[in-house]
Amino acid sequence: MARTFRVLGIGLGLMVGLVVLWIGVVYLISGRHLQQEYTLHAVNLTVAEDSATLARGRHVATIRGCMDCHGMDFGGQIFIDDPMFGRFAGPNLTRGGRGAVLTVADWERAVRHGVRSDGRPLRFMPAIEYNQLSDEDLTALIAYVRHLPPVDRSDVPIRIGPLGRMLHLTGNLPLLLTARLIDHDAPHRSAPPYGPTAEYGAYLPVHAPDVTDRASAA
Ligand code: HEC
Repeated sequence: MARTFRVLGIGLGLMVGLVVLWIGVVYLISGRHLQQEYTLHAVNLTVAEDSATLARGRHVATIRGCMDCHGMDFGGQIFIDDPMFGRFAGPNLTRGGRGAVLTVADWERAVRHGVRSDGRPLRFMPAIEYNQLSDEDLTALIAYVRHLPPVDRSDVPIRIGPLGRMLHLTGNLPLLLTARLIDHDAPHRSAPPYGPTAEYGAYLPVHAPDVTDRASAA
């Protein structure tokens, strides 16, 4: 009897040990991915601020869904909060928050590359969907958000839970770090002429790119 308990105890101990080891490995590897540093080419963009540009920026922000995560007033909001998966919140991008310090280069890095000003990847910022945004649309977007009334709301810290990290490592959460999926050297084209053409339709975010294949290849 005592022997059976001992064997069971050792078996249970081994299992717990393996789970702890596995969680440790998941945190180690995902931690490395989060610390990866990206070096990007410098871009030279000028932001116009006339009313046509601001209207264009508002249109781009709306069809690209920025408010889904950054809030209707761009003042930031939590969009996922789960103990296992994690807590994800878009930061306040108005001049009352991050917008006060973001340079045009910071905006470009974040929106088209999913990379923060210190070169680290942004979490859950779907830059892969915006990587091919034209310079005109990107700068209109920046002008529009900069002209919004400043919102006085603090950012909620992001936390990636064990399930979120595990799904990331198995390639089932490609949107967690889209900087890993982007070809950072790809040239940025101009938007095709506005109109009811297949070419313009292909430029619009009708379908999110199929990132699953590229995630498992990464
Ligand atoms: C699926 C949710 C989501 C959508 C949609 C989204 N964002 Fe984000 N964005 C985030 C999150 C989350 C962060 C913060 C990530 C971090 O701190 O690691 C972020 C960060 C940013 C940053 C960087 C802020 C900084 O501190 O460096 C900018 C700029 C930004 N987003 C702009 C946009 C714009 C413009 C759009 C629309 C074209 C957009 N985002 C759409 C989730 C989203």
